[in-house]
Amino acid sequence: MPQIKLLNIVGARPQIIKASAISRAIRKYFSDQISEVLVHTGQHYDKEMSQVFFDELEIHKPDYNLGVGSAGHGRQTSMMITGIEEVLLKEKPDCVLLYGDTNSSLAGALAASKLHFPVIHIEAGLRSFNKSMPEELNRIMSDHASTLLFAPTNDAFKNLMAEGFRPENSPPYTIDNPKIYLTGDIMYDNSMFFAGLAEKKRSFYLEGLSVEREKFILVTIHRDNNTDDIKRLEDIMSSLKRLAVEKNIILVMPLHPRTVLSLKTKLDALYRELIDSDFIKIIPPVSFLEMILLEKNCRMIITDSGGVQKESHFFKKPCIVLRKETEWIELVHNGTARLVDADPGRIEEEFIRLLQNHSELEYPGFYGNGQAAEFILKEILLMFEKV
Ligand code: UD1
Ligand code: UDP
Repeated sequence: MPQIKLLNIVGARPQIIKASAISRAIRKYFSDQISEVLVHTGQHYDKEMSQVFFDELEIHKPDYNLGVGSAGHGRQTSMMITGIEEVLLKEKPDCVLLYGDTNSSLAGALAASKLHFPVIHIEAGLRSFNKSMPEELNRIMSDHASTLLFAPTNDAFKNLMAEGFRPENSPPYTIDNPKIYLTGDIMYDNSMFFAGLAEKKRSFYLEGLSVEREKFILVTIHRDNNTDDIKRLEDIMSSLKRLAVEKNIILVMPLHPRTVLSLKTKLDALYRELIDSDFIKIIPPVSFLEMILLEKNCRMIITDSGGVQKESHFFKKPCIVLRKETEWIELVHNGTARLVDADPGRIEEEFIRLLQNHSELEYPGFYGNGQAAEFILKEILLMFEKV
């Protein structure tokens, strides 16, 4: 029986990690039915934003690296579309798999749908209802160019229905007759799979960082409105610096390069104070296994990342979200994630509240059974009638 050729498009850090869940499930269950071509747009390119994940998560080297790099939205996305189009015409895959909501996802959706390759969107239906976020536009457009849409949560599934997607559609599925599914989250698959490995392979990591279990807070910041709006960045960083001292707790901050760049170029004095503080550890981006160790062992998490918010839930840690709204709204309804925007008053209030013992907080299983990737691949095979 001929194999299905599936073309994966990745570009940003979280997509490389997500693709590893699909690759692992293909290797384990479907290697005789599915072959993979991996396209890396090159949106992220620093070693610690890209290569480290290929090495550590045992993802095979990209078949194509478009080397697009950093640029404004239009230029970056258009270079990706051009490169992806060339690969599609050469490879002629049966379908194209996209992850999440980055410019790489959007470029893949546009290039593939216009050439009539079926698009499969993983993490479909997530909405912040804030179209000033570039990611919100990417999500909506990617979903509406897709043939199979895999929603990770109930709310994401409902959002798709509200936009006119019909769960009752029957095969054959096309861009005009798309199919929506509720799957659970492939990042839950990944976090569970790699959690044990992280303890085994990197058990010395926290010691090397000189932090003790439950005695530090993990902080990540990279969202464009927090890094590029200097007032927001200053409000966030100054509040965190002050609270760390007042509450005598260490903040571990693996910072995205764009955050460090903004701090260095626009808030240099504050950046030096942060570097000099005994309570702040600004470190380069870490590997996924290191990140899991930080998440598992911290006291709580402060972040504007979509992925890290969810991982806070997987590892049962309260989370302060440095945003006005979130696509992972179930966390907020559950009371374990608190939206504080960049408001110093709200940051302080939730910092103090969540530092207290919170044994009453519960972390229900919103994100499936850890086998979302297997489910997705089965449905793809069904579309091509291979199971
Ligand atoms: C992108 C995604 C965002 C996702 C994030 C994951 C878009 C519009 N945004 O944001 O949804 O949450 O990835 O991390 O696609 N840079 C480096 N080295 C790198 C990569 C980036 O120094 O390897 C710096 C450059 O200064 C660049 C800036 O980071 O201009 C922003 O990079 P970019 O990929 O445009 O957006 P992210 O903020 O990473
Ligand atoms: N991550 C990582 N190292 C870091 C920061 C994040 O491995 O230094 C992982 C994190 O665990 C999560 C993913 O990258 O799985 C989230 O990526 P990011 O926060 O960049 O993007 P978002 O999820 O907001 O799109």
